[in-house]
Amino acid sequence: MADSKALLRARFGIDIPGAEVPDAVAPLIDRRVTRRYTEQDVPDSLLDALLAAAQSAPAKSDLQQYSVVVMRDRARIKQVADWIGTMDWIASAPVFLVWCGDMRRGQRLCALHDMPHANNNLDTFLNTAVDCTLAMAQFIAAADAVGLSTCPISYVRSHIERVSPLLGLPSGVYPVAGLTVGWPVFRRPVSMRLPPAVVVHRERYDDTALQQQIAGYDERRRERDPVAPGSLKNNDIYPPRDGVGWSENVARQLSVPERFGFAAYLKTKGFDLA
Ligand SMILES: Cc1cc2nc3c(=O)[nH]c(=O)nc-3n(C[C@H](O)[C@H](O)[C@H](O)COP(=O)(O)O)c2cc1C
Repeated sequence: MADSKALLRARFGIDIPGAEVPDAVAPLIDRRVTRRYTEQDVPDSLLDALLAAAQSAPAKSDLQQYSVVVMRDRARIKQVADWIGTMDWIASAPVFLVWCGDMRRGQRLCALHDMPHANNNLDTFLNTAVDCTLAMAQFIAAADAVGLSTCPISYVRSHIERVSPLLGLPSGVYPVAGLTVGWPVFRRPVSMRLPPAVVVHRERYDDTALQQQIAGYDERRRERDPVAPGSLKNNDIYPPRDGVGWSENVARQLSVPERFGFAAYLKTKGFDLA
């Protein structure tokens, strides 16, 4: 049995009494993203195995409504990094995957069988995103298991008008997230999570203790990993200052619309979100 107490303290900053972490689960609790990779390549034979693990994820009704674009051309990966502008380390990754929701394949299958596709709606959009995300999550776990590391990149959606043509994404296909893949130069510290009492509800949803729980979480994070004034969100709107906690930084981020053109973009890609 793994050292449950140490693992859970690292993850939550508090003890989780009674929890016993099996050895097989310990690496999942110890995981973290990597934002710098060595020069070492990832062999195709290994990458194909990890992609097979990703494709083994569950998929809604077995419809498998996602695709993944594998980028290995360093110049093209750097192009994406340059467009994003603030994450130059993306270019150090030997592999960049772009995970996409895919309604197109189902539409083509209907056409192949001379039937209408009658599910261009918000539910299908959600199903494509969920299938895609589960596959990406399974890829991440498989990569971690062999010593590789990854980092999802939602910022491909901030430059969707350039990333989408670069990858030749047709109507019905949109990027959910990029994923850098490579051998880590170093392992970042574990990032502290919300206490289970905030996220895990027993039988019924109950957030009556949220404010008090968050105050404790902010305090623990402030002690271990304070938000640097340079990492504060929307510094141009809210004056930067010391001592801002996690929850205030979340509010600073969520108070300003992010990628509000996304629905309009999806419509140009043929999605009807009604
Ligand atoms: C959907 C998704 C999109 C993300 N996008 C980015 C991104 O664009 N850039 C980045 O540096 N990290 C990104 N991340 C990584 C998160 O910042 C990271 O998971 C979080 O800070 C917690 O750190 P940990 O994964 O090491 O626990 C993303 C994560 C997810 C799940």
